[in-house]
Amino acid sequence: MTLPGDKSLAHRAALFAALAEGTSHFDNFSAAADCAATLDCLRALGVRCEQSGTHVRVHGRGAHAWRNPAALLDCANSGSTLRMLAGALAGLPLTATLDGDASLRKRPVERVAAPLRAMGARCDSNGGRPPLTVRGGALHGIEHVSPIASAQVKTALLLAGLHAEGRTSVREPVISRDHTERLLPAFGVPVQRDGTCVSVDGGARLHAFDWQIPGDVSSAAFLVIAALIVPDAHVRVEGVLLNPQRTAFLDVLLAMGGDVRSGLTHSDPEPVGWIEASSSRLRGIVVDPVRVPALIDEVPALAIAAACAEGRFELTEAAELRVKESDRLAALAEGLTALGAQVDEQPAGLVIHGGRPLRGTRVRAHGDHRIAMALAVAGLVATGRTQVDDGHCVAVSFPDFFTVLERASGA
Ligand code: S3P
Repeated sequence: MTLPGDKSLAHRAALFAALAEGTSHFDNFSAAADCAATLDCLRALGVRCEQSGTHVRVHGRGAHAWRNPAALLDCANSGSTLRMLAGALAGLPLTATLDGDASLRKRPVERVAAPLRAMGARCDSNGGRPPLTVRGGALHGIEHVSPIASAQVKTALLLAGLHAEGRTSVREPVISRDHTERLLPAFGVPVQRDGTCVSVDGGARLHAFDWQIPGDVSSAAFLVIAALIVPDAHVRVEGVLLNPQRTAFLDVLLAMGGDVRSGLTHSDPEPVGWIEASSSRLRGIVVDPVRVPALIDEVPALAIAAACAEGRFELTEAAELRVKESDRLAALAEGLTALGAQVDEQPAGLVIHGGRPLRGTRVRAHGDHRIAMALAVAGLVATGRTQVDDGHCVAVSFPDFFTVLERASGA
């Protein structure tokens, strides 16, 4: 099977194309509500974006053609939209207020606002949370040492750096997903990389780029883990993103004894290939904390694999999960415990004592797409019926999730 385009890539493709001169064409553009929010914000800024099915055309006229929006920019549930757009706006002579839904309004924005202020922009938030008003201005480059590995922060600062005087650098404790570093050069912007430090020079101009967006590897994770835990199951996903900063979950599953294989078919500007997985006897492991940023979005799915594995699974240094679309450590502990698993919730991680039989019940997704999908996958192996409240929120990243899961599992 193939999957709709990767969400992280779709946000960036649309945003970079909107800053570029010329028309960019994207195939297999994500149907996720998050990516629709990015396109709608760009339209509100005066950029013509057309969509027919999974084909998207962005008619860029350069960043200086962006206009003040007539109303708040509604980023809906999407932290990527809000944080990355804040960076792009910071270097332009515009004023815009970025807002979102109740979940987004609880999420931290100082991590982008503070360094953007240090570059010379005015950023006013609501006590560190959205709405965030950005008054862009004449920026100067900075060297930002980020205390967290965050690709959204890195991207925001690099986009601001495109319109800043001099060089803008971001140094991270551990490298976060590097899509921006891979994609900016495809749009004509040189990016310097030195270990965990990434830099751009101000003044670069972006040109249009056409791309078939690879399948969403974070969506694939749910199907891969479903295939591992359901008896006699098998899945093969083709044309999927295989960026190493996104595939650490495959390494964890291998270490857990999972029958998972993957192979590259091409790698420019992003590695793309296939993943295969078949039913396996899994065992718990201790996850190397250095790998956490490269599997952060896959923790909900991995937690289900851990509950179905023999023995102890331990995840540490994952406090960032508390400030995602929901508090994912709390939501996973609650949902898995309700299903009969033994879970110790820790301040920055989870210990899951696997191997207890799961029994279906009513569980809450807390409005979080990845919690909903994870608990639904657990429902495949739980006895009886599992009902996920708020299941419609899967539309945030994977609108066809339930249909695809049913087809894949032969239900
Ligand atoms: C994303 C980066 C990660 C990730 C999010 C998407 C991106 O967030 O959790 O789902 O596309 O850059 P952080 O930047 O907060 O680590």
